[in-house]
Amino acid sequence: MLFPEGVAIDSLTGALLPSTSSYVKRVSELFGIYADAAAFAEYIAQGGDQVAYEVVDYRKAESDLSFGTTVMTPGKIGDEYFMTRGHFHVRQECGELYYTQTGLGVLLLESRGGDVRSVEMKPGVCAFIPPGWAHRSVNVGRDKLVFVWVCTTDAGHDYGEILERGMRQRVVERDRQPQIVPNLKYAP
Ligand SMILES: [Fe+2]
Repeated sequence: MLFPEGVAIDSLTGALLPSTSSYVKRVSELFGIYADAAAFAEYIAQGGDQVAYEVVDYRKAESDLSFGTTVMTPGKIGDEYFMTRGHFHVRQECGELYYTQTGLGVLLLESRGGDVRSVEMKPGVCAFIPPGWAHRSVNVGRDKLVFVWVCTTDAGHDYGEILERGMRQRVVERDRQPQIVPNLKYAP
């Protein structure tokens, strides 16, 4: 039997107390998602392999709802900002919420039908991710991007499709500003 409890979320660090699990993704594990392969290789060659993002969960298998935080490090590979792998949910009827607590980001979304959207991520904004939309968050700020997510426990992550073909849009820095541009390497 599950019992209610309060979970403290640190809006600056993304720490959950209590939490059930967590994982980190290092930049080196994100080979292939950035447009500039040479810049990626150079970044790694120079010993740069920091944590790109960390995910902390509060997840109970017996409950339909789970939540947690994602903490994204600021940075760029070439002119492209650090980002998550991006995924569809395995259960296509499952949506998600991303509530930004700290930092600035862009949430890239696209449907399998080819619609593309983006939502600005900034403190106080709760992004609604409808069922059926792939989503990838991008840290376009100078500081950490911390957001709380709430999702169906067994929604499942399908990373393969986005890793294989990419998303239709990228977020790059132009004149020191984030700009959404078409992904010239998009390969459906
Ligand atoms: Fe998701």
